[in-house]
Amino acid sequence: MQLSSAPGVASQLRRLVFETHAPIQFVDITDDASIAALADRVGPVDHVVSTASARARGMLADLQRENLRLSFDTKVIGPTMLAKYFAPHINPGGSLVLFSGVHAFKLNVGYLGVGITNGAVDFLTRWLAVELAPIRVNAISPGVIDTGAWDALGDDGKRDYFKHIAAGNPAGRIGTPDDIAGAVLFAMTNTFLTGMTVKIDGGEPLT
Ligand SMILES: NC(=O)c1ccc[n+]([C@@H]2O[C@H](COP(=O)([O-])OP(=O)(O)OC[C@H]3O[C@@H](n4cnc5c(N)ncnc54)[C@H](OP(=O)(O)O)[C@@H]3O)[C@@H](O)[C@H]2O)c1
Repeated sequence: MQLSSAPGVASQLRRLVFETHAPIQFVDITDDASIAALADRVGPVDHVVSTASARARGMLADLQRENLRLSFDTKVIGPTMLAKYFAPHINPGGSLVLFSGVHAFKLNVGYLGVGITNGAVDFLTRWLAVELAPIRVNAISPGVIDTGAWDALGDDGKRDYFKHIAAGNPAGRIGTPDDIAGAVLFAMTNTFLTGMTVKIDGGEPLT
């Protein structure tokens, strides 16, 4: 798949996916056999992006080992196995893009499980960038983005939380999936970028 820089990177991504008729494949990132089978099925690839997440939100007193385990399994251990099984299939010039998150850098009580998971993603990114070179490995660290990730707050809770974040955020708004898609394209196509966590968070940790 060839990617060029152009306005509307997210729509470009969508267009490329539809034009190339990329088949949909399913994988359980907590299951090595599932990952290995996916790698065998798809064969050579240019880029691998892992957005999977099962976040462990909540105060320490409420954290359950199973939630924490699942959080690490989807964002740290799973992507490590994804790297293991996909590295031999990544074409020259290709890359791996992982997902961290703002709470690795902004320490908000109630996000301990999310924060330590994302911190581990940042270190994993650096380690993989060295071990898998010349395959490039980067991470995107989103701030608060309007996706289904916040549905558990309910409509009112989500609206109030977004308003609160936008009010205290240098960017003055929450993020959109397009903001993140653009960053993923940047990470894929900038061939001098590796081992980096790219923060797309509206400057939230600064305040
Ligand atoms: N949205 C934000 O504000 C925000 C902020 C900081 C960081 N991030 C990070 O950005 C990334 C994308 O976030 P998002 O908002 O798109 O999250 P999301 O809406 O919660 O989506 C998470 C995805 O992970 C998939 N998933 C869960 N367990 C899986 C498994 N075992 N195997 C494969 N896939 C699995 C889910 O699939 P199913 O739907 O099939 O369960 C879902 O599609 C995540 O890593 C997230 O932690 C997001």
